Amino acid sequence: MNKNVKKIAVLTSGGDAPGMNAAIRGVVRSCVFNEIECIGVFQGYDGLIQGDFKKLHVRSVSKILGRGGTILKSSRSDAFRTVEGRKKAFEALQSNNIDGLIVIGGNGTFTGAHVFFEEYGVPIIGVPGTIDNDLYGTDSTIGYDTATNSVVEAVDKIRDTANSHNRLFFVEVMGRDAGFIALRAGIATGAIAVMLPEQGQSIDALIKVLEKGAESKKTSSIVIVAEGDTNGGAYEIANKVKEKYSGYDTKVAVLGHIQRGGSPSAWDRVLASRLGVSAVEGLMMERADEMVGIINDKETFTALDQAISMKKMLNIEELRMSKILSI
Ligand code: F6P
Repeated sequence: MNKNVKKIAVLTSGGDAPGMNAAIRGVVRSCVFNEIECIGVFQGYDGLIQGDFKKLHVRSVSKILGRGGTILKSSRSDAFRTVEGRKKAFEALQSNNIDGLIVIGGNGTFTGAHVFFEEYGVPIIGVPGTIDNDLYGTDSTIGYDTATNSVVEAVDKIRDTANSHNRLFFVEVMGRDAGFIALRAGIATGAIAVMLPEQGQSIDALIKVLEKGAESKKTSSIVIVAEGDTNGGAYEIANKVKEKYSGYDTKVAVLGHIQRGGSPSAWDRVLASRLGVSAVEGLMMERADEMVGIINDKETFTALDQAISMKKMLNIEELRMSKILSI
């Protein structure tokens, strides 16, 4: 371990995810344990540019383990995309004698972190925090489990009313470019079909599935649509289906940002705590420009540019089984 790391900063950036606070707590507690000063940066990269810093003590992170959102706040910073913005951010780190940076976020956050590292060589470790689970180099990202549970809770309620009226519901879930939430939620709620950006299932193929379901006396059905599906969102898909198939009274529900909020699940709290501690240890081991993840229950470091450029695949067993289970 490198004892030269005396002061590090931590920030959250991009879309918030349940468990980010647990990760911040992991970082702070690990810093205190290792006698490293920890600085919280507010409002993501915008706060880094503006020097919006505050020292975090062991008790600054008390009672946040079970809280959704992020106590450090977040942003999707346009300024950090500019050369001048990143220069200011570097100057703010330098003038505060900060030796390393931990960024908790998703794809956009790591893209910025990688560019920043290439320009200024600031040791940076990324912690995967996004409900989308679309980062290569970790089996699960912080917030994915909680968001999936929130979707399942909502779809179970939709199922009650769908059943009562013999209706077909199209439920749109988050996942800009990825169908992880949709696939898991589809299995967990017994959806008849899941529409995933990775699969590009056609409307005609979907209608065949619906017809088969009706023939085998399904009275109501749920189709989960990942927002990034190539056919469009849930409203568009529902309209396209209605043009060709009138077997059901059809309704649409878009779950939206409700999926990002709420208290993190036990799984996400543990995952985030482990990753927060490991991120600090990564900096102490002189790692940089890497993301810490957990693969097969083991902490693993992956280069940031790989984490963002490599495509994380859906679980093919889950895909295969979802088709068997939904007949
Ligand atoms: O953080 C990921 C995500 O929740 C995506 O699933 C979604 O497309 C996007 O963020 C929404 O971002 P915003 O809250 O900025 O509209």
